[in-house]
Amino acid sequence: MSLTSIILSTGSYLPSKILTNADLEKMVDTTDEWITQRSGIKHRHIAGENETTGDMALHAARKALENAKLDPQDIDGIIVATTTPDRTFPSVAVKVQGDLGVKPGLAFDVQAVCTGFVYALTVADNFIKMGQAKNILVIGAEKMSSLLDWTDRTTCVLFADGAGAVILQAKETDDTLSNKLDGQGIHSTHLYANGSKRELLQTTGGVSTTGGNGVIEMQGREVFKYAVSYMADVVAETLAYNGITSADIDWLVPHQANIRIIESTAKKLNMSMDQVVVTLDHHGNTSAASIPLALDEAVQGGKIKRGQMLLIEAMGGGLTWGAALVRY
Ligand code: UT7
Repeated sequence: MSLTSIILSTGSYLPSKILTNADLEKMVDTTDEWITQRSGIKHRHIAGENETTGDMALHAARKALENAKLDPQDIDGIIVATTTPDRTFPSVAVKVQGDLGVKPGLAFDVQAVCTGFVYALTVADNFIKMGQAKNILVIGAEKMSSLLDWTDRTTCVLFADGAGAVILQAKETDDTLSNKLDGQGIHSTHLYANGSKRELLQTTGGVSTTGGNGVIEMQGREVFKYAVSYMADVVAETLAYNGITSADIDWLVPHQANIRIIESTAKKLNMSMDQVVVTLDHHGNTSAASIPLALDEAVQGGKIKRGQMLLIEAMGGGLTWGAALVRY
């Protein structure tokens, strides 16, 4: 018997405070026109001062449980992708586990910045395929606003806060299907990192260097070039690995960093923008939270339907990048 991980449900949370491009015009030397044209962002959500990544992760997890009609006791694993934990330790995952009242089971954080959710999904998928967990909460949650220098116009207009969650459930693989890709679940995941380019996008400090968190510094133009090329490579690899073409994909669900990067990937795939989930205009770049937030919005909004094929992809600090092919 072999096991597959299916996406049983999704859930998400956005803080109530909305920061518009017009608000940013009053804070730094920027314009709505520049932000819109260069990034595609119009407004974004920013967490309250006392609202933590863990709080947002908990809200998203509760929604995913509600949508799955599962009880917290049914969860036997929690993996949180985040770069902005409440504390250096313990992990956000154990906070979620404790506050939800989930029974003891695996719980830990994964840190791969904007690719974090694809990494966490891959790790969870592997636990499930090995038969080591049945229902795993996979969460992407970030309070990127706490890592920003609000006087640096090259970064503070881009990043934002929020959380998204999925519940992955173990299901016996349907061996009767003539084409295994017709089956529901995660069909493949592809992960990469290129540490020689880590200085292109990093924080100015950390626990064992400055003793503080530091703030984000990014060589945007360089990161942009790598993003376009890595995204093109990893989506091509995902299609080739599964022996399919982009005509077999119903939805591209990309990391929401820059509309021009997303458009470039869609163009290389020969996919219309109507088949791309875009939430960047109203979410901004929420790092590891961006894909589960986009996924949940598209599922709850009735865009993504059961049985459809999703191509998920992300790229971020590290540099890290990755993709997943999933039949929802
Ligand atoms: O999620 C993790 C991965 N991150 C990414 O994928 C981000 C990748 N990079 C990008 O999205 C883009 O590079 C940015 C949106 C960050 C910047 O767009 P760009 O078209 O690459 O602009 P640029 O950095 O080349 O800057 C163009 C100009 C510069 O002025 P000069 O040197 O041409 O006079 C900047 O100083 O725009 C200036 N600029 C701004 N102007 C107004 C930079 N930030 C701003 C701003 N408002 N906020």
